[in-house]
Parts: sequence; C-alpha cells; structure tokens
Amino acid sequence: MKYTDLGLISTSETMKSALRNKFAVPAFNVYNMETLTAVISAARLTHSPVILAISESALKYMGQNMLIGLISGAKISPSERIALHLDHGSSVRSCMQAIDIGFSSVMLDFSKRSLDENIAATNEIALYAHARDVTVESELGELSGIEDENTHNENSCYTDPKIVADFVRKTHTDSLAVAIGTSHGAYKRKSADDKLRFDILTEIQEQIPYTPLVLHGASSIPQDFVDDINKFGGNIQDSMGIDLEQLNFAATQTNICKINIDSDLRLGTTAAIRKYLATNPAIFNPREYLSAARDTVQDYCIFLIREIFKSYNKI
Ligand code: G3H
Ligand code: 13P
Ligand code: ZN
Repeated sequence: MKYTDLGLISTSETMKSALRNKFAVPAFNVYNMETLTAVISAARLTHSPVILAISESALKYMGQNMLIGLISGAKISPSERIALHLDHGSSVRSCMQAIDIGFSSVMLDFSKRSLDENIAATNEIALYAHARDVTVESELGELSGIEDENTHNENSCYTDPKIVADFVRKTHTDSLAVAIGTSHGAYKRKSADDKLRFDILTEIQEQIPYTPLVLHGASSIPQDFVDDINKFGGNIQDSMGIDLEQLNFAATQTNICKINIDSDLRLGTTAAIRKYLATNPAIFNPREYLSAARDTVQDYCIFLIREIFKSYNKI
C-alpha cells in the first residue's frame, strides 16, 4: 500500500513548509485508537499539519493490520496534511517494511553505530524510500534516556556540526535529528539551569541551511500531569522536561521543523485515567475513563500546536 492511498501526505513536504514559514510540525507518538484519534482530532480542530509517529514497539503492540485499519478508518484526506512516520527504525529492513505497508516517512536510527555504518545504511534506505516518494530521517549525535522498550541509553553526545554537511551529502537524508541537549523520557534535566545548546544548533544550520532538522526528546513533562498522577496513587519523582520557552524558540526561530512528543501524552493519559477512576470509584466502564484520557491528550496537543509550535492554521 502507498501512503497516498490512505490519504496521507509526504512528510518532507510538510517539513519544507515548516522551514519556509518558521513553525514546527509536531510528531506525536501514538499506539492505540485513543491516542490516534486524539491527535487526528487535534489536527482537525486546529487546521494544522501533524505527524503520527509509530515506534517499532508501538507497531508490535498494535500489529500492522490493526494500525493500517485504524488509519484507514480515520478517513484522512490529503487536504488535512497528516503524515505517518516510523520512529526510531532500528534496521534498514524494518524501515523498508514500514514503507511497504503505507508509512510516508521512516527514521533510520543508526546514531549509536559507527559513522560509516550510519552513512551506508541511511544511503541504502534513502535509495529505497525516494524511489517510492517516502521521506527519510536520520540522526547524528546521541540522546540519553529511554528510546524504546529495549534501549536505555546512558550516554549522550551532541551532534558534531563539522560532520553534518558531509553526512547529508553522502546519505541523501531528507531530514536530520540533532542532539542539542534533549533526551527521551521524563527525566531530562537535573536543574532549571540546564539549557538547550542553541549555539551548536546554529553551527549545524550554517552547514546545512536547507535541511529540515528534527528535535527528539522534546516533552516538557507538565507538572499538572505529574501532580495528578501522584495525587491519585502514582509515584513519579524528580521529573523535569524541556522548558516551553526554549521549545517555542526552537520551533519558530530555528531550522527545527519536526518536534517529537511522546512522554507528555503518556503522562496525560495516565493522569486522566488515575484521576477519573479515583474520583468515580463506582465506574467500571473503560469507555468512560478512556474518553477522559483521549480528551486530555487532544487538549494538550492543541495547546502545543497553538502556543508552542505555532503550526496552528498552517495547512
Ligand atoms: O523515542 C521513543 C519513543 O518514546 C517510543 O517509545 O518504543 O516505548 O513506544 P516506545
Ligand atoms: P519524549 O520522551 O521527550 O516525549 O521524546 C519523544 C521522542 O523523541 C520520540 O521519538
Ligand atoms: Zn525519539
């Protein structure tokens, strides 16, 4: 199946529009009907482009047929500017499989491999993807934190601006994920003084001014969600996310065109369900608390789209 058959659009096209018009397209991680419909309705209500990000473990959780069935059931129109993206593809093979079932973009994450391996594999998937009008994202540098169910990365190293131009030229990657101080998961910063390295980002942009850049690990870890989780039986301590002002700067004043958000939606989902169950102890209909979770995720996506990424009304 080709992504256009599902009403999806080219991820590259939506990122180029973001690059020209100084906003960022959100890539929200989804993994079930509730998160998928929350993100799609947020995009619809705000007339804004959005990228549905699916990790390999989310794909395994849903199954390919269920995912494509859900996307097909959402009746997406190309005029809505919605893309479907494989997040953190771990092999050329898994990226090819995603392209074959209808993804409009894939990330091949070889950032922990040697530079030569990263270049060779990214170039291989770019050849396959571009023949099918599919967009490729790659990564240089390493983010710390939890990247997927199986990968817990202790290290982080910033992207080296000196190697990005050569990498883009040799690989034909469409976009590049950069490491400038973000990390995956809920524990991104030790203190409010930890800032993103916009100096490194500026150097990267000078080298590759026409390449859309991607920011992973960009959740801000809203304190309201954490407070509700803790108030209603959870226990999350010392979490800290990316400062929203810095995220807004990245979205509107730099070449960051795609911003990845997963943890915030997980926290919103969990907070809403815990609160709903604790305040409605007699309820046992899952549709009720899952609806509360879906509404919370939708509202949070709308907040980011309108106030932070400025992708509102950018179709
Ligand atoms: O960056 C990775 C995402 O947060 C995906 O995590 O594999 O648990 O779905 P996951
Ligand atoms: P967060 O953990 O900050 O939401 O990161 C999401 C991400 O980078 C998905 O690829
Ligand atoms: Zn990521």
